[in-house]
Amino acid sequence: PTCERYAVRRLPFAQLADGDVAFFKRLMPGRVITGEEEVKPFNVDWLKSVRGCSQLVLKPQTTAEVSQILRYCYERNLAVNPQGGNTGLVGGSVPVFDEIILSTALMNQIISFDKVSGILVCQAGCVLERLSEYLEEQGFIMPLDLGAKGSCHIGGNVATNAGGLRLLRYGSLRGTVLGLEVVLADGSALDCLTSLRKDNTGYDLKQLFIGSEGTLGVITAVSILCPQKPKAVNVAFLGCQSFAKVLETFTTCRAMLGEILSAYEFMDEKCMELVETHLKLSSPVADSPFYVLIETSGSNSTHDEEKLNNFLERAMASGLVTDGTVATDTKKIKVLWSLRERITEALTHDGYVYKYDISLPVGKLYDLVTDMRARLGQSAKNVVGYGHLGDGNLHLNITAESYSHSLLDAIEPFVYEWTARCSGSISAEHGLGFKKRHFIQYSKPHEAVLLMQQFKAMLDPKGILNPYKTLPSSPERRMC
Ligand code: FAD
Ligand code: MLT
Ligand code: ZN
Repeated sequence: PTCERYAVRRLPFAQLADGDVAFFKRLMPGRVITGEEEVKPFNVDWLKSVRGCSQLVLKPQTTAEVSQILRYCYERNLAVNPQGGNTGLVGGSVPVFDEIILSTALMNQIISFDKVSGILVCQAGCVLERLSEYLEEQGFIMPLDLGAKGSCHIGGNVATNAGGLRLLRYGSLRGTVLGLEVVLADGSALDCLTSLRKDNTGYDLKQLFIGSEGTLGVITAVSILCPQKPKAVNVAFLGCQSFAKVLETFTTCRAMLGEILSAYEFMDEKCMELVETHLKLSSPVADSPFYVLIETSGSNSTHDEEKLNNFLERAMASGLVTDGTVATDTKKIKVLWSLRERITEALTHDGYVYKYDISLPVGKLYDLVTDMRARLGQSAKNVVGYGHLGDGNLHLNITAESYSHSLLDAIEPFVYEWTARCSGSISAEHGLGFKKRHFIQYSKPHEAVLLMQQFKAMLDPKGILNPYKTLPSSPERRMC
């Protein structure tokens, strides 16, 4: 078979035949993509680091169509790669070989929104930013926000259990997603699309699909609890002289801001250099080894500003923070947020990016960056650290002029062993996808991985849904 580029063998799925394409064209006229050039963007991931060679993209509009597609593929033994906005960062969103791409791009309808409960029900292909705009008009917001909001789909967010910039305040999707509709590998639809805050009738099946990265079912609709839009939002962007001070600033602001704290993000000076050099953004504060972005969201601007000012006075007076700026108007808030949100984009302009997304005890968060920098020396171009400090989530990124196997060997498994020694997680929020599935054992015991494989075998006995992703392959399937 073609596309034998990876250290993995194509599993014995059927090959796409003319009759298959004809079937899909009859099912969804005008929504079947076959041209090589048109299919190309769906074959390459956002980071441009992995590439599949699918020949077919399907764009269903309804759950019934997704059911028919999967029923057909299941019978024919054709592999399928569910795809949302294709912004995933672990190679899970694109095929490895010739899997059929099932795109949710046209499943973009809002089904209902209840202003009393704040519960939104929508199709899986709604773009996160569109949902945010829709809700803001009604005085509500989405409980999650991330730099990829302009492209990612809510179904993709749920499938990856995306964390993002608001998790500190509104919690994980595991808490805010109230219901899901999912089509299983054999085409049967599972309607768990309830809109109830409380429902203890049996096992909570939706949790199995949240974070399952398209390997257990295709999410077709989502019911999600949305918070009220805060009346007052403030952002402070501050410079700190050491990571110890970043931590102390966090403890102080948590104590002084309490319920209005909605984000606590950090980035190091290298990140600032990258957004300045590659994106021409400018730092609003004096050069510092570390920067933090603090957001408050509340219902009373006078009260919130007073609290924030008291905190800032304390932080400056005690030397925790050496410079800072505050924004209350939407435009300036956006400018400050973009310094943090656009680091990912800046990194792609710096060269080949080795990306790690680690959960650690917060006190040790930056030690990994320091150790990695010392270990790699001149062999890396930049070693940077940023992330959701309030959630104990470090984004460690290493850049080099081009991909090098020896540099990868110097990083892995060192980074995973380091993380496991601290009982951390090797994937805090991005998932395992194609790139990290063989490292799951650093964060999960053997018994847990076995149980996951049993769930997979039960829900998808032929293994047609997103093969080669998330779970490690059995040893005989690997080509070493
Ligand atoms: P895709 O990339 O298309 O797919 C991701 C995975 O989900 C794949 O395995 C795919 O098969 C599966 N999938 C997609 N849709 C479905 C569906 N309907 N049913 C079943 N499976 C499906 N992540 C964070 O957690 N926090 C962040 O702060 C964050 N910031 C980001 C910033 C940038 C600039 C970028 C590029 C990415 C960022 N991400 C972040 C990565 C994150 O995983 C995605 O942005 C997002 O959650 C994926 O949504 P998507 O629609 O693009 O899914
Ligand atoms: C972020 O927090 O910016 C995202 O998770 C993307 C990344 O890790 O680069
Ligand atoms: Zn992140």
